[in-house]
Amino acid sequence: MTGTKLLFEKIKLGNITLDNRVGVAPMTRTSATPEGLATDQMVAYYTKFARGGFGLIITEGVYPDDKYSQGYLNQPGIINNEQVAAWRKVTDSVHKEGGKIFVQLMHAGALSQGNRFTEQTLGPSAVQPKGEQLEIYGGKGFFPVPKEATKEDITGIIQGFVDAAKRAKEAGFDGVEIHGANGYILDQFLTDYMNRRTDEYGGSTENRVRLLVEVCIAVREAVGNKFTVGIRISQGKVNDHHHKWAGKEKDAEIIFGQLGKAGVDFIHVTEYQVWQPAFSENEGTRALDPAFGDHGATLAALAKKYGNVPVIANGYLHDPERAREIIEKGDADVITIGRGALANEDWVNKVKNDEPLEEFDPEKVLSPTAAIKDFEV
Ligand SMILES: Cc1cc2nc3c(=O)[nH]c(=O)nc-3n(C[C@H](O)[C@H](O)[C@H](O)COP(=O)(O)O)c2cc1C
Repeated sequence: MTGTKLLFEKIKLGNITLDNRVGVAPMTRTSATPEGLATDQMVAYYTKFARGGFGLIITEGVYPDDKYSQGYLNQPGIINNEQVAAWRKVTDSVHKEGGKIFVQLMHAGALSQGNRFTEQTLGPSAVQPKGEQLEIYGGKGFFPVPKEATKEDITGIIQGFVDAAKRAKEAGFDGVEIHGANGYILDQFLTDYMNRRTDEYGGSTENRVRLLVEVCIAVREAVGNKFTVGIRISQGKVNDHHHKWAGKEKDAEIIFGQLGKAGVDFIHVTEYQVWQPAFSENEGTRALDPAFGDHGATLAALAKKYGNVPVIANGYLHDPERAREIIEKGDADVITIGRGALANEDWVNKVKNDEPLEEFDPEKVLSPTAAIKDFEV
C-alpha cells in the first residue's frame, strides 16, 4: 500500500470531492429492461463498486434521446421520468455506501445496432463505419450507411444531451460524462474519414470538434456551474482500435484546447495502454523500454497540457503500480479501470489492504450478461 498511497488521496472534480483517485470506467452491460429502465440487478452491480472502495463510478453509456441515440437493445436510457426514477434507486444506493456516480451520456450515431425507436442510423456523413457490429451486444454483420445529419438533426443531438443532463441531476447523479470517444456520434464528427461535411462541422480539426464543444457548452449552461460535467475522448474506436489523429500533437492542442475552454470540469482520455506515447510509431514495444527514453507525451499528458482541467486516464491500468505512476508523473489526476474492476469489484479495498487481486478472465468479464449475473442482488 505504501507505494500506492497517492491513489487514495482525495481530489476535487468540479464541485464534488472524490474520496480517492480510482474510478470504475464506463461499461455497457445491456442489462436494463427493454424500455431502458435500470433494474434491481443493476442497483446491486453499481453498489458493489462503491462498497469495494471506488471513489468514482461512471455508468455504462446511457442513451439521451428517443431519436437516433440508442446503440444497443436493453441499454438503459435517461429520457423520461420512469427512467429517472429507476436511476434514482442506483444513485441512492451508491450514495449510501459513500460512493460518487456520474452517468455517461452516449449517442451511438452510425454505430447503433439496436434502437427501439428507429432502424435508421445517423452520422455526420453517409459513410459506412469500418468493422462489424458487436456480437456480444446482439449485433451481426456490417453497420448500415447512416443518414447524413441535417442542421435540425444536429440541434436535436445537442438538445438530447442537454435534456439528459438535466434529468441526470434529478436522478441524483453527481455529474455527467459526455461520451465523445470510442467511435460513437461525437467521435464520428471528430474523425476525418467519417466526417466528410463541407459546412462548419466538417473539414479542419477546429470544425470537426465543433459539435463536441457545442454540446459541452450547452450542457454546462443547462446544469449550471455546480454540477460536474466532463467529456471522454479517445483516438481508437470500438470498430477501429488503432486509429490515430492525423495531425498528432497539433490536433491534440486544438481538440483539448477547445474542450478545456468549453466549461468542462474534466477530460477523460482512454487509450489501449494509456501510459504509452500517444503518437508513437512502435506503440507497445520501444516505448516500454526505458533505455530508449521518452518517445513522446501520453494522450493524458496532452489533455492536461492543452485542456488545463483535471484529467482522468483509462486503459490497462489495473496494475496498481502502473496506476500510481501515471498520477505521480502528473499526466492524470484520477484513473479508471474497466475489466480489472469487473474482476475485482473491491479493487480499491484490496490494494489498500495489500490483498492479492484476481486476474481478469476475459471469458467472464467481456460478456456483459455473464458478468452482471455474477453480481447478486
Ligand atoms: C464490457 C465492456 C463494456 C464497455 N462499455 C463502454 C461504454 O459503455 N462506454 C465507454 O466509454 N467505454 C466502454 N468500455 C471501455 C472501457 O470503459 C475501457 O475504456 C476499456 O475497458 C479499457 O480499460 P481497461 O483496460 O481498464 O479495461 C467498455 C469496456 C468493456 C470491457
